[in-house]
Amino acid sequence: MNALAHKRILLGVTGGVAAYKSAELVRRLREHEAEVRVVMTRSASLFIGPQTLEALSGERVYCELFDPASPSAMPHIDLARWCDAVLIAPASAHLLAKLAHGLADDLLSTLCLAATAPIVVAPAMNREMWLAPSTQVNRAILLERGVRFLGPGEGEQACGETGPGRMLEVPEVLEGLAAVFEPALLSGVRVLVTAGPTREAIDPVRFLGNRSSGKMGYALAEAMREMGASVLLISGPVHLPAPRGVERVMVESAADMAAAVTSRVVDCEIFVATAAVADYRCRAPAGHKIRRTGELLTLELEPTPDILATVAARPAAPFTVGFAAETEGIDGGLADLAGRKLVAKGIDMIVANHVGEPGQGFESDDNELLVSWHAGERLLPRAPKTRLARQLVPIIAERFRAKGQAQGPGPTSRA
Ligand code: C5P
Repeated sequence: MNALAHKRILLGVTGGVAAYKSAELVRRLREHEAEVRVVMTRSASLFIGPQTLEALSGERVYCELFDPASPSAMPHIDLARWCDAVLIAPASAHLLAKLAHGLADDLLSTLCLAATAPIVVAPAMNREMWLAPSTQVNRAILLERGVRFLGPGEGEQACGETGPGRMLEVPEVLEGLAAVFEPALLSGVRVLVTAGPTREAIDPVRFLGNRSSGKMGYALAEAMREMGASVLLISGPVHLPAPRGVERVMVESAADMAAAVTSRVVDCEIFVATAAVADYRCRAPAGHKIRRTGELLTLELEPTPDILATVAARPAAPFTVGFAAETEGIDGGLADLAGRKLVAKGIDMIVANHVGEPGQGFESDDNELLVSWHAGERLLPRAPKTRLARQLVPIIAERFRAKGQAQGPGPTSRA
């Protein structure tokens, strides 16, 4: 389905090196049969010529608020009324500041004030500018008002630094924009997501942990929220902010996570276990800091409760999705392992990823996923976790509905 077909997209382009990506964006939008009109700020026209965007969009490009050559006396009002969505890509720190505070000193900022259509921004700036407290406050204000943020991504920047601030690539921007027009796949569905690692105490200052960053689970919680679900996120210790609109409960150990899940799972219709829960914990954590003695030290470990299997075994179990982080590759037995886990845990779907590969899996922004359920599987090739999350949610939603329909109406039907 092409959610962008016949949609009227007002593309705002601000000044930055990433402005070159707007040419590709216009081409792809037109390939998706969207109508595109472009508004550029003055500094944007220093990075890319209006003629280029004019040729690609097939429409005149608007630059000035008061332009005697303009066919309209009030282009800001006409354009604001015309569009189905405003997409600003790249969006500079200056533009975000103006939007957050209602400034209207050029055509783009003025029409944003006048627009009632959704506003979507793809920020692009130096990492320090993105992380600056003012930009982060502006972001929070805009999120609060319903402006949708696509990115920024992390990576090498034009300024030579590495970090957050890169404009997302064109396919990701298009997917994020399309999501604005897609029906909310999980509207009103109650979802519980576990994410991040757990910490199992050895003594009051040391723990057994793992390398999970929580990024996949947080991206999924956010994508499910965007698609209309009401999401509760039960998270182990991570350095990530709670996604907007998602209720979060922070926990530490596998036992804490099990307790939090048990007390909240009755209300949920879909349970997604992305957390890298410790499989073992110390049988008797020391009550004081263990001192170095130079002797061999043995820790006695006992298994933790399998949260996912316990949820799946409930009488009116929700639709259950597990994750399997394995060091075997897609061609090296990952599918078999995932299939076995699907059956052993009695769950509805398993999402396997290969964590031995450099640059993907734990602590990384990218992943490659093999999604399996009892009657099929799909490979989601390597991509940023935020993108994979948006691809995964429709698959979960489809299987969740299919299971509900197969069960038919009745006390255990949840779809
Ligand atoms: O058995 P394994 O740890 O590989 O299974 C991974 C899946 O099971 C993940 O979805 C993880 O969140 C879940 N899990 C759990 N409780 C545990 C261990 C794993 O929910 N104690």
